[in-house]
Amino acid sequence: MDSLGWAQLQRSWRFCLTGLLLQLLLAVCFFSYLRVSQNNATGSPRSGLTIMEPVTMAPSVSAGPPTLPPLLILLWTWPFNKPVALSRCSEMQPGSADCQLTANRSMYPQADAVIVHHWDISSRPQSQLPPSPRPPGQRWVWFSLESPSNCRQLKALDGYFNLTMSYRRDSDIFTPYGWLETWPGQPADGQVNLSAKTKLVAWVVSNWKADSARVQYYQMLKTHLKVDVYGKAHMPLARKTMMEQLAQYKFYLAFENSLHPDYITEKLWKNALQAWAVPVVMGPSRSGYEQFLPPDAFIHVEDFQSPKHLAEYLQLLDKDHARYLSYFRWRETLRPRTISWALAFCKACWKLQQESRYQTVPSIAAWFT
Ligand SMILES: *[C@@H]1O[C@H](CO)[C@@H](O)[C@H](O)[C@H]1NC(C)=O
Ligand SMILES: *[C@@H]1O[C@H](CO)[C@@H](O)[C@H](O)[C@H]1NC(C)=O
Ligand SMILES: *[C@@H]1O[C@H](CO)[C@@H](O)[C@H](O)[C@H]1NC(C)=O
Repeated sequence: MDSLGWAQLQRSWRFCLTGLLLQLLLAVCFFSYLRVSQNNATGSPRSGLTIMEPVTMAPSVSAGPPTLPPLLILLWTWPFNKPVALSRCSEMQPGSADCQLTANRSMYPQADAVIVHHWDISSRPQSQLPPSPRPPGQRWVWFSLESPSNCRQLKALDGYFNLTMSYRRDSDIFTPYGWLETWPGQPADGQVNLSAKTKLVAWVVSNWKADSARVQYYQMLKTHLKVDVYGKAHMPLARKTMMEQLAQYKFYLAFENSLHPDYITEKLWKNALQAWAVPVVMGPSRSGYEQFLPPDAFIHVEDFQSPKHLAEYLQLLDKDHARYLSYFRWRETLRPRTISWALAFCKACWKLQQESRYQTVPSIAAWFT
């Protein structure tokens, strides 16, 4: 059974007779749950590595069971108050459920769920949250891809929300910045063009804070190794040619602006991996990154005693082509993908369709650290 069928079973529980019928349903649900969880995330044998199945753009396959009206999900604000393109969820993942997604607040009384993007309500949560009393059964989803260091006023949200949605793996709705998915693949040395990699290390930084750990690390690193720095107050980098330019580099410094569990951003997924530069990471611990990537897909600053030792290693890899290419071996069977707002909202749609139980998050502030 596909996830649409499963969601419909869940939602139709309330209408079902008790006794035998319910038992039968439970059995069916249990097996479809197993199936759904296998489809969603398959653990790699070597570690807790999260590999997702491809989300393809194939046309939707219509599902068998009787159709219930799709859930109505209200986006309380557009993320950062900027409208974004939405997609039909059944087209993002064939056979999956659809939801009606809207940002029209006059739909609030009918909405089955409301997604609240934290940044947009954080200046005055009390007056910017949706109004009370909420319609019966309506679920509120707290949503942030920013790290706790950049989320103000979390404490004011105690007791309001039913589900969490963030880059953290233990969110109710897990929306990482990126992930690896399986693909038929081809040998890595046929995919990466070494002679096009004419430069060594790049870093794009917009939020430059002289006393931050990452800037201090860079200051020491650059005494041993040339690092090309782009961004505000550094070399300019046009959005249009950014990926081409970064692809000329062998390494990219994917240094996060703050350190929190699972907080691994587009610096890794897009600037480094999608540009085919080997990421040198600073963020969660090595084992934290290994929840998302094979151990040989990245270089961690923690692997080295000092910036000088890291510099020596990068110079060594620059000369040893075979060893450098070993950082691409995982690409024979896996490839990186990045999130879009549209996909994030569809993930919320699928989860809300699958699970309709009552739950409250007592304190987001206590969890999101
Ligand atoms: C919002 O929804 C209401 C009620 O369905 C409708 O009358 C109104 O035109 C909508 N507004 C926009 C901007 O779509
Ligand atoms: C590899 O890159 C070099 C330099 O940019 C280019 O001349 C060559 O055509 C590329 N080879 C392939 C197979 O793309
Ligand atoms: C959602 O959370 C609120 C606030 O704690 C609670 O009153 C409500 O019953 C919850 N609703 C659901 C559907 O879980």
